[in-house]
Amino acid sequence: MRKPFIAANWKMNKTSQETEEFIRSFVPLVKDITDVDILLAPSFISIESASRLLTSSDVLLGAQNVYHEESGAFTGEIAPDMLLAAGCSHVIIGHSERREYFSETDDVVNKKIKLARSKGLDIILCIGESLEQRESNRTFDVLNGQLSGSLADLSLDGITIAYEPIWAIGTGKTATDEQANETHAFIREWLGKNKKNADSVRIQYGGSVKPENIEGLMSQSEIDGALVGGASLKPDSFAKIVTGASGK
Ligand code: 13P
Repeated sequence: MRKPFIAANWKMNKTSQETEEFIRSFVPLVKDITDVDILLAPSFISIESASRLLTSSDVLLGAQNVYHEESGAFTGEIAPDMLLAAGCSHVIIGHSERREYFSETDDVVNKKIKLARSKGLDIILCIGESLEQRESNRTFDVLNGQLSGSLADLSLDGITIAYEPIWAIGTGKTATDEQANETHAFIREWLGKNKKNADSVRIQYGGSVKPENIEGLMSQSEIDGALVGGASLKPDSFAKIVTGASGK
């Protein structure tokens, strides 16, 4: 039995003040939902204020990125210990926007996961194919490469996978429930063949998730939650998504 896991990736949105306003409205909306793990991933600069407001709530806090060195001369970067001290339990690693705009390779993703896990952070590892890769029937090859590179020499402890087809991110185009489930099933099979305890790993879907499509996605056997961008920016919309995932 895998507990549904719904996470908000706010990307480069919201000041600290806007983060606080969101949390003050959002937390009461989900206070009675205990059968879904809920996580907010604000920008680095809003994490501490979010953490203060979330101390008496079950809502989890995560970062959107982390560096793969413990400390030192890496101007502009943030280390795992800093995230832990600021109140994060999780970090998103390998988002397609990091891969595309910041040249993150599977090797870098693997280094980040290794250091973050060694410090005790839980990981949301993002993988997913582009439209061109899907249309040329290379989806499973691409996912195979991302999974083997990102998870090299790692166990699945503390790891959630987020399958985010790049063509569905911010486009309003969601994968159909069946398309998403088929790909999740491939990912689960890969994990089962290559690692221990694959059945307990949660696989989130990401890409234009909204209140209107969460229930259909969650009705699929291999979909354990969602990583939500745009529709997580408003408290009522994100609360509806969490509510839609409750009861699975
Ligand atoms: P959207 O929900 O805006 O499509 O973004 C998905 C995403 O990239 C979450 O990480």
